[in-house]
Amino acid sequence: MINFPLPRIDLDEELHELLLPYCRFEEGKIWEDPEGKHKIACLDSSDEISIKRLMGKERAALAIQDPPYNFIAFDEKDSKEFTEWCLLWVKNTFDSLADDASHYIWLGADQNNNFQPLADFILMMNNSGFRSRSFITMRNQRGYGTQKNWMAIRQELLYYIKGEPEFNVEAEYTEIPKVLKGYYKKVNGRETENLERSRSPFIRAGNVWIDIQQVFYRMEENVNGCYAQKPLDAISRIIKASSRRDEIVIDFFSHSGTSLLSSEMNNRRCYTADLDPVFCEISLRRLENFRKNKKTGWQNSNPFADEISGDTKLGLYLEKKYKIKMTEERLFLNRKYSDETH
Ligand SMILES: C[S@@+](CC[C@H](N)C(=O)[O-])C[C@H]1O[C@@H](n2cnc3c(N)ncnc32)[C@H](O)[C@@H]1O
Repeated sequence: MINFPLPRIDLDEELHELLLPYCRFEEGKIWEDPEGKHKIACLDSSDEISIKRLMGKERAALAIQDPPYNFIAFDEKDSKEFTEWCLLWVKNTFDSLADDASHYIWLGADQNNNFQPLADFILMMNNSGFRSRSFITMRNQRGYGTQKNWMAIRQELLYYIKGEPEFNVEAEYTEIPKVLKGYYKKVNGRETENLERSRSPFIRAGNVWIDIQQVFYRMEENVNGCYAQKPLDAISRIIKASSRRDEIVIDFFSHSGTSLLSSEMNNRRCYTADLDPVFCEISLRRLENFRKNKKTGWQNSNPFADEISGDTKLGLYLEKKYKIKMTEERLFLNRKYSDETH
């Protein structure tokens, strides 16, 4: 395995500029899957006309939205602005969904600022047409530590519905075996025990998910360059619980393309979008890499490894700024890696 990371693209404008020539996307471009399944669009999800172009006459069974919220400077005005912006893409999501559909939203709550933007967002959803269904918390392994407060390790996931969508409870079972015996109860005159009565020997995830590993550089699914990647296991759980084979899943904040890849793996169709052509390109490369090599990410290599290995401005920039050295040995290793996987 080659240790060949790419720094966070969102924090380095020059790096972002140098990646653009390798992207097959520009504002307004919609990539259509030659296999007829997915679409990736470079657009602003708050723009009604753009989303209508992406959806055409089709409607999705499920939306998984993960908007950026870290940019909020923590005062009330910015939280309000954020919520007003959310109202626009939430409306576009509503219009893109079928009459009976599910809508999941990942959002943060700043504990030092009245749990914004989550608090305002939840109030805004009152008038959105969606009905609240569950408030899920996923446990992160890493967190924000301080000696003066509880360590922040939660990730909030809101579950709303439109109409009466199906819910596949089978998808909720974890791989954690039930160990608790007891809870005796008479069934048809016979004394039965908890495990005997249950549908599965495994526990249900419920609305506190403790069993999903946060993405980090040692996992195959890791996509270097991205900063907000969700675990495939979490997205697959949502997709299996709230959609059926061949149905459309929408994700208007694609980033590393997790919903796209999970849809491919679970035989769903994904219509996804990102404002940034670089993240559209990364999403597409992730799908292509999976189709070709059955790999879910690049672990500690990265989606642009080929371009960086060549004698390019990009390679030289990384070498100079981040001391990612293009030694002969690394160039050789990268070519070898590339030959093996392409
Ligand atoms: C938090 S990340 C999503 C992470 C994603 N769930 C994953 O697993 O990789 C948010 C993404 O939204 C994109 N974005 C920001 N504003 C947008 C907008 N108005 N329309 C579409 N995408 C936007 C950003 O470029 C970023 O890639």
